[in-house]
Amino acid sequence: MSDLVVCNFEEVKETRGKRIVVDGEEIALFKVDGKVCAISNMCPHQKFQKLHEGMFENGIVTCPMHGWAYDVRTGISINASGRVKIFKTEVKNGRVIVIK
Ligand code: FES
Repeated sequence: MSDLVVCNFEEVKETRGKRIVVDGEEIALFKVDGKVCAISNMCPHQKFQKLHEGMFENGIVTCPMHGWAYDVRTGISINASGRVKIFKTEVKNGRVIVIK
């Protein structure tokens, strides 16, 4: 397990995702109620890495490809059987840390 500083807290917005790459793995960051959530950017449906581009509202991101939607706090889909991998995050001194 490793802790990696990936960006500044201000770079993560309440209204859209932010794509980062950690150890070659795409991760999408979202901000919900002032906290940063990190999920795999790969949608389990057809493996497109587009979740960071999805519509994001009230903690739910909708894959722009075919509409599967996920709660970014849990990774669980709210309208399909899929689940995306989630990562723990911390914010220290204004920096976002993803724990892999
Ligand atoms: S790839 Fe995400 S819904 Fe199809």
